[in-house]
Amino acid sequence: MFALTASVKSLAAEDNVGNLQRIGNGNPVIGKEKSRENRCQECHGEDGHSSDAKIPNHAGQFAGYLIKQLNNFQTGARHHEIMNIMAEGLSQEDMADIAAYFASQKIMQGEAGADKPLARDLFMKGDQARGLLPCVSCHGENGKGRRVDNVFYPVIGGQRAIYLRSQLVNWKLGNRKNSPDGVMNKFVASLTDDEINALAEYISGL
Ligand code: HEC
Ligand code: HEC
Repeated sequence: MFALTASVKSLAAEDNVGNLQRIGNGNPVIGKEKSRENRCQECHGEDGHSSDAKIPNHAGQFAGYLIKQLNNFQTGARHHEIMNIMAEGLSQEDMADIAAYFASQKIMQGEAGADKPLARDLFMKGDQARGLLPCVSCHGENGKGRRVDNVFYPVIGGQRAIYLRSQLVNWKLGNRKNSPDGVMNKFVASLTDDEINALAEYISGL
C-alpha cells in the first residue's frame, strides 16, 4: 500500500505543470476544416458533443490522448470496426490538427443526477482491500483529466454513460488493452457489473 500512496502523491505534485497543454501542437483552425472534411463531426459533433450515446464526446479532451487513440486505431492496437477505417488515411499532422480542434472546445460537462454513494466512494477513495486506487488519483478532479509527463489521463467526467460503460466492460474482458502497462485492465478486473454500471452513470454526471 505504501508504494501506491507514494505514487499517487508524486502524480498530484505534477498536476499544475501537467495541465497546461490540453491542445498540443496542432492547429485548431485547420483542424476544424479537416474534422468536417473527414466526417468526424458527423458522429463526434461539430463542437465535440457526439450524436449518439455509443459515440464518445471529444469536447475538451486532451489532444495528446486523442492522437494516441487515433494511432492505436491505425495500427490496430485498439479495435473498433468504424474507427479502424476512419483513422486509416490520417497523417500525424491531420491527427494533431483535428485533436487540437476538439480539445479547444468547451469541456464536456455532466448534469449531476441522484447521489450514487457506491460509485462516488470507488471514484474518490478506491478500495484498499482490492488494491484499487481511486479513479480520481489518475483522472483528476471531477474526472476532467490530467497530463503527467507524457501520459495522458483522459477526461471521463461528463462523458457519455453508455460509452463509459462499454469501455469499462472492454477493459475488463480484455477487448481493449492499449492503456500504458495495462493499467486500466488491472483496475477494472475486480469490478462487478453493478459497480461498472454505477460508475458509468456517476462519472457521466460529473
Ligand atoms: C460513423 C461514426 C464515426 C465517425 C465518422 C468517426 N467516429 Fe470516432 N468513434 C466512433 C465510435 C462509435 C467510437 C467509439 C469506439 C469504441 O467504442 O471503442 C469512436 C471513438 C473515437 C476516438 C476514441 C475516443 C476516446 O475517448 O477514447 C477517437 C479519438 C475518434 N473516434 C476520433 C475520430 C476522428 C478523428 C474521426 C474523423 C477522422 C472520427 N472519429 C470519425 C464513431 C465515429
Ligand atoms: C493509475 C492510473 C489510473 C487509474 C487509477 C484509473 N485510470 Fe482510467 N485510464 C488511465 C489511463 C492512462 C487511461 C488511458 C488509456 C489509453 O491511453 O488508452 C485510462 C482510460 C480510462 C477510460 C477510457 C476513456 C475513453 O475515453 O475511452 C475510462 C472509461 C477509465 N479510464 C475509467 C476509469 C475508472 C472508472 C477508474 C476507477 C475505477 C479508473 N479509470 C482508474 C489511468 C487510470
